[in-house]
Amino acid sequence: MKQFVLFALPLALLAGTALAGPPVGDAERGGKIHRGEIAIEGAAACSTCHGVDGNETINGTFPRLAGQYPEYLVHALKSYANGTRDNAVMMPIASALSQKDMEDLSAFYGSQNGSLRLIPTDR
Ligand code: HEC
Repeated sequence: MKQFVLFALPLALLAGTALAGPPVGDAERGGKIHRGEIAIEGAAACSTCHGVDGNETINGTFPRLAGQYPEYLVHALKSYANGTRDNAVMMPIASALSQKDMEDLSAFYGSQNGSLRLIPTDR
């Protein structure tokens, strides 16, 4: 069930974006925040835990972000910030980000090649 939600949610959000238009984030600025080249007070550089390329899972529990749908990532970050997604590590970090920071970071991850894949539908 958890796996279904993890894959179904990005798809549902993607369907929503088809109506809303392309993502608005600035991927180049997002990459700088990710690597800590633009420092955000209260948020450690994302690359520390999510890998330099956003595609590492440090101890098997840190999610890969590269290649994920930007809309899903913005949603995840907002959910940490407002507490609907309860996580002690990400809550203070997401709370330190502005809406634009979230959009730029999400555009950056979404623009990368990741090892995330759609579930084949022919099974
Ligand atoms: C101290 C380590 C650490 C740092 C620094 C960190 N993260 Fe995370 N991040 C985590 C962990 C652990 C999780 C998984 C939390 C959970 O189980 O919900 C996570 C989850 C996420 C998720 C949800 C991914 C998904 O597939 O649902 C996003 C998005 C995210 N982080 C973005 C960021 C961004 C952007 C930054 C930098 C501003 C950042 N993280 C910095 C440890 C970190």
